[in-house]
Amino acid sequence: MSRDAILRADAVHKHYGDLEVLRGVTFEVGRGEVKVIIGPSGSGKSTLLRCLALLEEPDAGQVSLEGRRPGRGEVGMVFQRFNLFQNMTALGNVMIGLTEVRRLPKREAREQATEFLARVGLKDKAGQYPDELSGGQQQRVAIARALVMRPQAMLFDEPTSALDVELVREVLDVMEQLANEGMTMVVVSHELRFAHHVASSILMMDEGVVIEEAPPEQFFSAPEHERTRRFLALVE
Ligand SMILES: Nc1ncnc2c1ncn2[C@@H]1O[C@H](COP(=O)(O)OP(=O)(O)O)[C@@H](O)[C@H]1O
Ligand SMILES: [Mg+2]
Repeated sequence: MSRDAILRADAVHKHYGDLEVLRGVTFEVGRGEVKVIIGPSGSGKSTLLRCLALLEEPDAGQVSLEGRRPGRGEVGMVFQRFNLFQNMTALGNVMIGLTEVRRLPKREAREQATEFLARVGLKDKAGQYPDELSGGQQQRVAIARALVMRPQAMLFDEPTSALDVELVREVLDVMEQLANEGMTMVVVSHELRFAHHVASSILMMDEGVVIEEAPPEQFFSAPEHERTRRFLALVE
C-alpha cells in the first residue's frame, strides 16, 4: 500500500512455551508514516514491537528495515517504564549508546547527547539522575537516548501510560514534533486523540494478529470489526 515501505513485518510468529503470542503479523510502515497500534492487554503489542526492534527473535517470519536486517540502534525503542540507567545522569543515559555501541570518543558523544537533550527540552537537566526527574522528563530522556543513535524508525510502547495525566502532554508533544519532522514511527498507545491527529493509519490487534488497519477517520467512524467497535467503546 505505501509507496516506500521502510520497516516490514512479514508473517511474524512468536510463542512463549504453549502460548502463541503472535500468530502471523504482517504490516509495513512507509518512510515518514506513523502507525498507531491499539488492542487489548495481552494481544501481543509489546511482543510485536520487541520483534521489530530485534530485542526478540521471531520464531517464524521476518522483520526487515529497507529490505535487510536492522542493525543495533537503527530501530529505536521507547518503553512504558522508561528503562533508564538509574546510576547515570540524563546526559550519561543519552551518551552511553554512542560510546559503547558506536565507539565515539567521550567528547563527541557528550556534544551529540547535549544536542538531543536540548531537542526534547531538557538541556538544563543534563546533570540530573532519573530519580530527580519527573516521569515525563524521564520519558523524554529515553526518547533522546533512542534518537541520538539516528534511528531509521522509532517504536513507542505505551510511552505515556505510566505517567501522571498532567505529564502526558509533554511527551506527546515531543512525539508529534518528531512525526512532523518526518520520523517513521510505530506507536502502541491508547491516546486516541493523539492517534487521530498524528497517525497515518491505525491498526487493531487481537489475539496475536492485526484484525484491521485503516486511516484514522475511517478507523474511528466506521471500524470494520465488531471487536474493534467494542474495544473503542471501552477505551473512549
Ligand atoms: N517473555 C515472556 N515470557 C512469557 N510470556 C510472555 C512474555 N512476554 C509476553 N508474554 C505473554 O504474551 C502475551 C502477550 O504479551 P504482550 O506482547 O506484552 O501483550 P500486550 O503488549 O498487547 O499487552 C501475554 O499473555 C504475556 O503474558
Ligand atoms: Mg504491552
